[in-house]
Order: sequence, then C-alpha cells, then structure tokens
Amino acid sequence: MDTREELVKLAEIKPELAELVREALEALDRSESQSEIEGVRVALLGKKGHITEIFKHLSDVPVEDRPDIGRIANMLRGYVEAELDRKNEELKESQVADREKRLALDVTLPGRREPTGHKHLLTQVIEEVTAAFISLGYFVETGPEAELDYYNFEALNTPAYHPARSLLDTFYISKSDPDKNSPSDVLLRTHTSPVQVRVMESRKPPLYVISPGKAYRREAIDATHTAMFYQVEGFAVDRGINMGHLKGTLEVVARRLFGSDRKVRFRPHFFPFTEPSAEVDVSCHACDGQGCALCKGVGWLEILGCGMIDPNVFEYVGYDPEEFTGFAFGMGVERIAMLKYGIEDIRLFYENDVRFLRQF
Ligand code: DAH
Repeated sequence: MDTREELVKLAEIKPELAELVREALEALDRSESQSEIEGVRVALLGKKGHITEIFKHLSDVPVEDRPDIGRIANMLRGYVEAELDRKNEELKESQVADREKRLALDVTLPGRREPTGHKHLLTQVIEEVTAAFISLGYFVETGPEAELDYYNFEALNTPAYHPARSLLDTFYISKSDPDKNSPSDVLLRTHTSPVQVRVMESRKPPLYVISPGKAYRREAIDATHTAMFYQVEGFAVDRGINMGHLKGTLEVVARRLFGSDRKVRFRPHFFPFTEPSAEVDVSCHACDGQGCALCKGVGWLEILGCGMIDPNVFEYVGYDPEEFTGFAFGMGVERIAMLKYGIEDIRLFYENDVRFLRQF
C-alpha cells in the first residue's frame, strides 16, 4: 500500500478527516500550473490552511482521539508537501524541455537571409560606360580632383575672359590674386577634361583613354544641379582620326546604354577645347523617338558634349596638329542615369534613402 492509499484508508476512522483528505487529494490532482500549485499550498498548509487548522485545534479534540487525528494530519501534511514539491519540479523540467525544443535547429525552415548592399546606381552607370570603352580598347586613366587652373582651364584653351572661368562658378582652394586668374591657382576641377591634358602631356599617341571621376561647381542645388557630380571623359588621339570615328564610337556606346536600335545625332555647339564641337542626342528610348514626357515631345535626349580636339590644346602638350588629330567627349553620369531610368531629381542620388537605391 502506498502512502496515498494508506492515508485514505486511515482517514476512514474519522469522517471529518476522510472528507478533508479526499478534497486535499483532489485539489492536488487538479493543480497543473505554478499558480494552481501555489494556491493548493496556501489553502492546505498556509497560516489559515485546512491542515494547519487541524493542528491549531488539536487541543479541543477529545484526548482519546488526539493520537489518531494527529498521526493522520501529520501524514497528510507530509504527503501534500512532497506532492507539491514533486509537481513544481515536474513543471520546471517541462518548461526547460519546451525551451530546448524551441531553440533546436529545424532544418526544414527556410534560411535567414542577411541583407547585403549593392553598388550605387551611379557606380553601376560609371562601370557600364567604362566597360563599353574598355571593350573598344580604351584604357582607364584618372586625375586629381584638386587641380591646377592650368589643366582645368588654361591648357584647355579656355581664356581668362571665358564665362566658364567666372569666379562664381568655381571652388578655389588657393589663389595668388583674388581678382585675377593664374595658371598656378588651385581649384576643385569643374570637369574631367583636365585629365586629357595630363595624359597627353605625359604620353605619346596613339591614345585611347576613358576617365571617370568627380567634378565640382558652385551651383545652387536643385532638381538638376548638385555642387559635386560625376562625369566620364573620353578621348582618342591618333593619325587620321576624324569626326566619323567620333560618331561611330558614340553610337556604339549610346546603344550599349540605351538599347540596340537607338540612333544618335550631332548638333553644333561650342566648347573652348574642341573645334568643331557638338552636342550629341540619342533617340528617346521611352517612345522610340515619337515624342513623350521623358524627351519633352522632342524624340531626342541630349547625352553628352564632344568635338575634335582643338589644335591649340595640342600646342600646349607639344603634339604636332599636322601629324595627329583626335576627338574628345564628356558626359554627365547623373544625367545619363536620370534619362535611362526616368529619375526626375538629381538629389535622390545623394540622399542615400535605401528605398530609392535598392530599386536599381
Ligand atoms: N567638359 C565639358 C563639360 O563639362 C564636357 C565636354 C565637352 C568634354 C566636349 C569634352 C568635350 O571632352 O570634347 O561641360
């Protein structure tokens, strides 16, 4: 006979105890949660608990009944305490088991992907343009962003009175005379064209060079202007280079960027370092040249400036303009990206809002 059966049997001597034992055992069996277990402990063993009460009032019990009642109450108390402890222990163990189950590796779950970054759209466009020229046999060259007036203006045949040299348009780093331009002034380059001069000065033709990089201008910032922006410069110098080579080269690149059936057209323009100069349009890829919102109904999108390198520039670098000719071009990277993807505000490139950046 185990303790429980023994208790029930013994309690039968006294009906009031039999009732208490039955209720106590039932309450024990019903209790599952920690709060239920605690409730039973208080109800039976607490200061005013039913078992405690028996001991308190033992002196009121007739002397001859005391040993039996005392023994049964003692036994009941011991049993209840042991059962409550056992139940608590069981509960703790099942909680630990639950937790372990939750933490266990479930190989059927899909993996957790860590978010990874990707190249900025402007980097992608720069790489796309650069790769197109590398495939045509061009070499990448770069130059300093803090540049001498000589390379940025002077040797690019840009005379001191040219509007591009307005003190208002250029960020100067050091100037010998605040009111005058000097070839030794240091400035933030206003375009990537000075790389042409630096490369030609240090090397001999044939040259086929592509040069991506940053340029700076003192602009009021708005939807189409930032004070820092990217350009890709390119140029070729060799014997017998003519405008047909320029047009054919730009056609290849325009098609790489905007689609295989794009056309290009030249419009006469002026740049100090090229003669003749042109602006180049590509037929609108959004409407196939029919006219739409992107091309403002024109059917063409302006993508770059270019021309045949001015003989005066060759004089500065010591090339004989009778022996060599060359073409050059420069394009704004933000502008190309805006046209390609229909982006209407240049500032989006520099705000680093991932909701914008992750679309490309
Ligand atoms: N440097 C010019 C600009 O920033 C762009 C340009 C035009 C570059 C004609 C060239 C060129 O090399 O030939 O607006």
